[in-house]
Amino acid sequence: MSIRVKNNIYWVGKIDWELRKFHGDEYSTHRGSTYNSYLIKEEKSAIFDTVWAPFAEEYVRNLSLEIELNKIDYVIAPHAEIDHSGALPLLMSHIPDTPIYCTKNGIRSLKGHYHKEVNVKLFNLAKTDKNDVITEIFKSKAILMGSPTINRGILVSVAGILEEIKGLQFKNKKAAAFGCYGWSGESAKIISENLISAGFELADDGVKVMWNPDNENVSKCLEYGKLFAGKVRT
Ligand SMILES: Cc1cc2nc3c(=O)[nH]c(=O)nc-3n(C[C@H](O)[C@H](O)[C@H](O)COP(=O)(O)O)c2cc1C
Repeated sequence: MSIRVKNNIYWVGKIDWELRKFHGDEYSTHRGSTYNSYLIKEEKSAIFDTVWAPFAEEYVRNLSLEIELNKIDYVIAPHAEIDHSGALPLLMSHIPDTPIYCTKNGIRSLKGHYHKEVNVKLFNLAKTDKNDVITEIFKSKAILMGSPTINRGILVSVAGILEEIKGLQFKNKKAAAFGCYGWSGESAKIISENLISAGFELADDGVKVMWNPDNENVSKCLEYGKLFAGKVRT
């Protein structure tokens, strides 16, 4: 379905009558929503925004009825959030050489959202064999290490691994720290300092959260993870 907005501008988005919640369960939308994507057919043809990922196939199918996909000259991505850009990977798989226009922050954000080459492995340092963890660190491009603050310090399991990798002095690896805390919150800083002396390049100051993270802080950590993934790739 498409709607001619004006002149050579067409709406090629999706009306989602079923949607009731978005941004997880955070916001309500009692009567569904639209994902607005526009096709501009001027001297050059451009797509402005796409739709939410579950509708990607339908979107690309409909779009190809409006324009031959390889006739699209530019894709403009003003938002990286998945309700705007979810169909972008599928669209780009059809037209991989078409340039995407977005802001500098947009590049980082899109990379964080979609770059499939970031393969993440998660280890509990108190439970996983420390030699296995060290082997995985050796094979990794970057690591995130975390601990709660305990007695103004870090967990012994984390301290132990840091002590071991300090001796190994791995090269060309990025890292950052994270941690929860109750009042003083030294853990992320201590881990960061240890990572530097173990030869890692710090990506940034990491992320810390007071007590157990609430929904807002979980979102903050997710965003941080994407940002970190973007930095690791550059
Ligand atoms: C024995 C103990 C010592 C702690 N010492 C500190 C501290 O020195 N500074 C601080 O900010 N939080 C301190 N905390 C609070 C923890 O960092 C906080 O409870 C954190 O959210 C722990 O998360 P978790 O228990 O879910 O792993 C301490 C907690 C415990 C149990």
